[in-house]
Amino acid sequence: MTVSEVRERFLKEKEAVKTLKDLENFRQLFLGKKGLISQLFKELRSAPPEKRKELGREINLLREEVESFVRQKAKELKEKELQERLRRERLDAALPGDTVLPLGAKHPLSAVVEEITEIFKGMGFTVETGPEVEKEEYNFDMLNIPKEHPARDMQDTFYLNRKGYLLRTHTSPVQVRTLLKKRPPVQIIAPGRVYRRDDDPTHSPMFFQVEGLVVNETVNFAHMMWVLKEFLRRFFETEVPVRFRPSYFPFTEPSTEVDIGCVICGGEGCRVCKNTGWLEVLGAGMVHPAVLEACGVDAERYRGFAFGLGVDRFAMLKYGVDNIKHFYENDARFLRQFLSL
Ligand code: DAH
Repeated sequence: MTVSEVRERFLKEKEAVKTLKDLENFRQLFLGKKGLISQLFKELRSAPPEKRKELGREINLLREEVESFVRQKAKELKEKELQERLRRERLDAALPGDTVLPLGAKHPLSAVVEEITEIFKGMGFTVETGPEVEKEEYNFDMLNIPKEHPARDMQDTFYLNRKGYLLRTHTSPVQVRTLLKKRPPVQIIAPGRVYRRDDDPTHSPMFFQVEGLVVNETVNFAHMMWVLKEFLRRFFETEVPVRFRPSYFPFTEPSTEVDIGCVICGGEGCRVCKNTGWLEVLGAGMVHPAVLEACGVDAERYRGFAFGLGVDRFAMLKYGVDNIKHFYENDARFLRQFLSL
């Protein structure tokens, strides 16, 4: 083979190089160990000595030409391949995803706690919280609930192994925590979970309460009645009939239980109100001086009222739920009914 034959072959073959793979085959053909250029060099040895120098120069020139073509073409083809890939793998970040996740919603109890909280905030209350694992002292003793009181019974209270601690049975210990921490005037509510050994269609071993406490130098029973009536009116969004019944709580004196006209039957009498036409919704009263004194508050100078309500009961009445367990089973069919809250 002569140099010009190889050059002709080169000029012809280079037109056929369309891909990087073609180029690699092309490179092997001309520049590989056993390629055409190597062969030319091999043949050079048998050329007449006087022509070798000139011939060698020509082969070298041809090799450079081929090498420069390979470099040039490689660059060109790589760029072309990149552009194609970019076109092929183009990402449109504005396209919608292929799964649209359904929106979650507030749990009805959370929604009702929030609703209650907003109403009291609107009346000048601030929010306090306390721990669910509580000192027996705060849950009972300092609330004037003596050692032999039936509410302390093993039947009602979850006691913990650690002596002196329990799962709080009501949110009232937050009254104690607040008074130990802040000087009056105070005007707070305390929402949260509470625990009792109790389990039937209207009782769950864990449920929610909202506690209220107002302490200052002038507050009286009539103020309390107004606040609670106004709260009930705003919560049930109608002029519900309200009545205050004398009652007893160790931590208040006098004490009252608050009933509303049955929202289910309108006072006619039904299963829910046990044919009385009334539903008990709140416990309340004037803070017992013993509670104020236990917290270091001067009971001669200060007075207060307090109240406690069961959130689950409020939620059941407002939304016509007939079993408290629905709130804790998290059946999506139940929860879906509250998507708009
Ligand atoms: N702690 C009471 C309960 O769990 C509710 C209660 C009644 C709270 C009267 C009060 C109150 O603050 O004054 O049944």
